[in-house]
Amino acid sequence: MAKKNIDWENLGFGYIKTDKRYVSNYTNGAWDEGALIDDDMITMSECACVLQYSQTIFEGLKAYTTEKGQIVIFRPDLNGDRLASSAKRMEMPVFPVDRFVDSIIETVKANADYVPPYGTGATLYVRPYMFGINPVIGVKPADDFQYRVFTTPVGPYFKGGVKPLTIKVSDFDRAAPHGTGNIKAGLNYAMSLHAIVTAHNEGFAENMYLDAATRSKVEETGGANFLFVTKDNKVVTPKSDSILPSITRRSLMYVAKEYLGLEVEEREVHFDEVKDFAECGLCGTAAVISPVGKIVDHGNEICFPSGMEKMGPVTQKLYDTLTGIQMGRLEAPEGWIKVVE
Ligand code: PLP
Ligand code: COI
Repeated sequence: MAKKNIDWENLGFGYIKTDKRYVSNYTNGAWDEGALIDDDMITMSECACVLQYSQTIFEGLKAYTTEKGQIVIFRPDLNGDRLASSAKRMEMPVFPVDRFVDSIIETVKANADYVPPYGTGATLYVRPYMFGINPVIGVKPADDFQYRVFTTPVGPYFKGGVKPLTIKVSDFDRAAPHGTGNIKAGLNYAMSLHAIVTAHNEGFAENMYLDAATRSKVEETGGANFLFVTKDNKVVTPKSDSILPSITRRSLMYVAKEYLGLEVEEREVHFDEVKDFAECGLCGTAAVISPVGKIVDHGNEICFPSGMEKMGPVTQKLYDTLTGIQMGRLEAPEGWIKVVE
């Protein structure tokens, strides 16, 4: 096997077709045994439930090449658990977590030539997803589903790598109370598209969404949770039933406490207090930790003391520790790293 001839250092966050993908079909109330296939195209009815009523859910995780040259994945069982909770909320069958983890390993292994080498800053993004595939015209869930996993080599999610971002407070809501904000359903992203295009057209990298009920509390961005650092080095993250339970955020809170000895708090964060924080970052699989330098709320600017040139010191430590664990430079907590090969 030889690595593909890709300019790893200059990859953005885009789709590059790789050799193999995993597919399993759910028909007559059961999943088939699944297989790796070559064909990246999907044929389905014009009336497939996913096309008419957006019955689709997904996950995102990454495969890394460690310092010693192994290929590893990070906490895939948590992605499997979250896909299961998304499936239940969306009236879809659960793909068993052990089979989920196996399907990720198999797909990454089959595309090993696309896993970026250690030290390039790139990773192999893994996208598992499931959708309702049979024709449905009255509003109801599908009976038949397809689960798939594809991979694509990626660089940083935000242009400019780890340079602090400027984001805006969105005029749109992302998720309703008692809605679907806490699961990873395609519909959450569909409804954020107008908001992200608006933000980009205005020169912002992302949106800060506030809670839809009161518009006074911080929720998350379109693709990442928030982490804040107080002036006395406490790490604070918003608690809400309508945000996605980020695996990166949960891991970083553990790292902050257990590796860095910092105080951590998961609690409601009022927008009014954001101006008092020392550092702000966006965390997620794609975002890793992307520092935020400035938040603009209808012309009012909140500029964090960490500035627009580099990450704040605590954000940097969190970033170095998490990526150190993922790339095998630091010892990982039990069960966090799964070796693919
Ligand atoms: N929030 C949203 C809306 C996301 O799409 C993601 C990405 O998966 C996250 C947060 C971060 O979650 P994770 O760290 O599990 O990737
Ligand atoms: C991820 O971080 O895996 C996501 O799904 C976020 C998405 C906006 C790319």
